[in-house]
Amino acid sequence: MQKKIDFLIIGSGLAGLSYALKVADYGKVCIISKSNLDESNTRYAQGGIASVTSEYDSYQKHIEDTLIAGGNISNKEVVEMVVSTAPARIKELIDLGTNFDKLPNGKYDLAKEGGHSEHRILHHKDITGQELIRSLIERVRTHKNIEIKEHFFAVDLITQHHFGKIVTRNTKNIECFGAYAMDMKNNNIETIISKITYIATGGIGNIYNVTTNPPIATGDGIAMAYRAKAKINNMEFVQFHPTALYNPKERPSFLITEAMRGFGAILKTKDGVEFMKKYDKRESLAPRDIVARSIDTEMKLTGDEYVHLDATSLNFSELLNHFPNIYKKCMDLDLDIAKKPIPVVPAAHYLCGGINVNLSGQTTIKNLYAGGESASTGLHGANRLASNSLLEAVVFAHNSAEETKKLIDSIKFNDKIKDWNDEGTKLPEEMILITQEYKELEQIMTNYVGIVRSNIRLKRALKRLEILFQETEDLYNKSVLSPDLCELRNSINVAFLVIKMAMKRKESIGLHFNIDYMN
Ligand code: FAD
Ligand code: SIN
Repeated sequence: MQKKIDFLIIGSGLAGLSYALKVADYGKVCIISKSNLDESNTRYAQGGIASVTSEYDSYQKHIEDTLIAGGNISNKEVVEMVVSTAPARIKELIDLGTNFDKLPNGKYDLAKEGGHSEHRILHHKDITGQELIRSLIERVRTHKNIEIKEHFFAVDLITQHHFGKIVTRNTKNIECFGAYAMDMKNNNIETIISKITYIATGGIGNIYNVTTNPPIATGDGIAMAYRAKAKINNMEFVQFHPTALYNPKERPSFLITEAMRGFGAILKTKDGVEFMKKYDKRESLAPRDIVARSIDTEMKLTGDEYVHLDATSLNFSELLNHFPNIYKKCMDLDLDIAKKPIPVVPAAHYLCGGINVNLSGQTTIKNLYAGGESASTGLHGANRLASNSLLEAVVFAHNSAEETKKLIDSIKFNDKIKDWNDEGTKLPEEMILITQEYKELEQIMTNYVGIVRSNIRLKRALKRLEILFQETEDLYNKSVLSPDLCELRNSINVAFLVIKMAMKRKESIGLHFNIDYMN
């Protein structure tokens, strides 16, 4: 079955929804999302969105904080563009109906997180993501030009390769003509031919065994773009959030927002010793890479399975007012955080790299754009500054919309596209084969490619991953296609990219810490 659409958007997090609303007056839009429309990393965002809005703050400070957190390898032009256009994008979110918390004097109640020199995080209690999604989805659902396909799984991008041309990584002018996507209700594969394709499929947290990311985060868009021969970069920079709630039975791990440290909560060992001063003068509010690594070191030194985040000295009514969701969650687990410290561990949280894009969000493939966590824009360098991710999603969605709405009338639909080729004998795969491979993948990535790396660990990881890769490709070639199998294949693809790029980087910087290159 074939369908033609001007703008195909893969993913319904902040990046996909923002882009949809911005282009919907310029052509027909179709958003496909492999889960419910409101399920995404965005939905779980707690801390908020960074932007200069107070008279004490300045673009210069936000720029410097971003560059410092990023190990000074961010693209300065990108950082300056994002920081200086942030207030305009925030205003648009407010105009769309997003509510950010205010003080009694009517000013925004700005929070502070690790690496920020000022209070500059706009937030909605500790459920900022839910509020953003609510306000955008209301608009998306009622726009006459936007079609929504929930439980639709993008399998592969369509390029010249799909009508018989040999496409290599050096081929110039690779073009994207849309995507093949599976209707998960009946497993039929639709051919969606589009003029512009926008990848907004989010991150890769599920390649690790402890992650804050929901199950949708399996790197699908990055893997698809890689297979289509787009440039991918900075995959070695996987961010671990320092403070996920220690609750081994729960996946994804529940986040304890960094804003709580901004509010005065302090990291301690289980014995009650404050340890961050040993590692950084900014203590519990140092940038994330430093805090996560310090916790990892302390856990290894003490043999403890977690450290404590102590919020017991905070004013109770303010704690409740700012963090009602966290308070309730912990109470449900019989933990009164006003009286007892919270057990926390680092968890895979965010990917700084991804599909390489320019200032307009354009990839190295014609008519293919990417935004949000699946894109590598140059903003984060070696380590993302807290709450810069939601900001990046809206800023780049805007830039991509500005460019593509001007292009759309000049692009013609490609009429040569064939439907998905499903020839050959195909058998349903045994689920155990997929789940077991997934477990092995998580173990490899966690044990060898985690917070602390070494050359020998990376080499081992690659060797073991190669076996999983081969087994999964064999399975893929002889099995009936299923979303589970595609996710496994995509996850192995992105894990391969993380390892390869980690091996290539002969230094320790930001989130890539290799004990063989101690600076
Ligand atoms: P997502 O919001 O992850 O959306 C991805 C979408 O793509 C989903 O709809 C998914 O179903 C869909 N999808 C994926 N693969 C396919 C496929 N094959 N076919 C079809 N659809 C597909 N950042 C901040 O700046 N501030 C915060 O306070 C903050 N808090 C966070 C808290 C948590 C717990 C987490 C996990 C992240 C947090 N982040 C925060 C990071 C931030 O939320 C994400 O980076 C950002 O929301 C990513 O948005 P996105 O639109 O790129 O992707
Ligand atoms: C948090 O609330 O600590 C998460 C913020 C982020 O990931 O930017």
